[in-house]
Amino acid sequence: MILVTGGMGYIGSHTVVELQTKGFDVIIVDNLSNSSIEVLDGIKAITGKRPIFEKLDLREKSKVAGLFQQYPEIEGVIHFAASKAVGESMELPLLYYENNLGVLVYLLQELNKKNASSFIFSSSCTVYGQADEQPISEKAPIKPAESPYGNTKQIGEEIIRDTCRASSNINAIALRYFNPIGAHESGKIGELPLGVPQNLVPFITQTAVGLREQLFVFGDDYPTDDGTCIRDYIHVVDLAKAHVTALERLIKRKNQSNYEVFNLGTGKGTSVLEVIKSFERVSGQRLNYSIVERRQGDVVEAFADTTMANEVLGWKAISSLDKAMASAWTWEKIIMNFKENKR
Ligand code: NAD
Ligand code: WQD
Repeated sequence: MILVTGGMGYIGSHTVVELQTKGFDVIIVDNLSNSSIEVLDGIKAITGKRPIFEKLDLREKSKVAGLFQQYPEIEGVIHFAASKAVGESMELPLLYYENNLGVLVYLLQELNKKNASSFIFSSSCTVYGQADEQPISEKAPIKPAESPYGNTKQIGEEIIRDTCRASSNINAIALRYFNPIGAHESGKIGELPLGVPQNLVPFITQTAVGLREQLFVFGDDYPTDDGTCIRDYIHVVDLAKAHVTALERLIKRKNQSNYEVFNLGTGKGTSVLEVIKSFERVSGQRLNYSIVERRQGDVVEAFADTTMANEVLGWKAISSLDKAMASAWTWEKIIMNFKENKR
């Protein structure tokens, strides 16, 4: 049985679908702080199976211990549960350190009591900051974090590395995601941002359905071809599949060491204006946008060197940007009415 923390969230729900499709038994633990109970219906509609769901706040250490007692058959954990808003983390750093690091420690403590368990951690390309070279390989230096959120990913990786160094009970993989976008092609699950989205793609689709007046493009005077920032946008379903590949690697003991790190991206850099063009292409609709000042803290460019993921992990992103944007657009139109009450 695989425990998926934060499995009701954006990346977690897509991963649960891929796990169940591959025949894994899944238990989701989530406190629904950034997700909705209806996600379970979406997962059931796609896979034909409703995963076990425990509504629980993982910050309650005794409840985490109780969970592992109640389900001794847990052999692996995919740990998505975290707070992820960069701006909020500047205002509420302790909440971020408690939720993103306290919970991580509790989970590792429980896993360390067991034999040979597998642990997959949601890390982020944010650990690289503005890298000196593109594409960014796993060997690139970790730069000082720009936010408490980013710091929790750096420290989180160190906590896992140190734990694995000291104990052979845990085999772990940290996956550094670049920019996940899009939704499941069934239209049954996708991203459900609460409030005003901070990320580019949900802001684009919300603007297109009329929830936002216009998209503000943060700066067109960067040293890039069209002056806007470059990122590596990866379809969330491709990303979800990488988790199953990583988990199978650990379960089959194909890992080269008991702590490994992989970048998850497409390997292709795309500018903000190219994302907008892709949206306009797949939606057949013009987007209302204007260029404004740069956003503080944005890096100019970040895209992945995927050699390790492709050749060592044995996974490759296959979806095009257009396909990912089309799925994000379909999803936005589906949830438009449902979300209107909440935004
Ligand atoms: P999300 O907010 O959609 O999902 C996280 C889930 O965890 C939510 O369902 C939330 O309710 C739950 N959760 C949070 N704190 C909890 C707690 N204390 N107890 C139980 N449940 C809790 O986020 P996501 O986009 O799916 O991100 C998943 C992971 O990937 C996070 O660790 C995030 O930092 C990381 N990540 C995300 C991105 C991105 O752009 N989305 C990029 C890089 C890394
Ligand atoms: C993408 C590009 C913006 C919104 C964030 C987190 C990072 C990681 C991934 C978790 C940038 C531009 C955006 C808008 C815009 N998450 N933009 N107008 O900044 O790469 O990273 O998500 O680990 O930690 O910081 O993603 O989607 O916010 O921005 O012009 O309204 O779109 O300037 O160039 P980012 P993003």
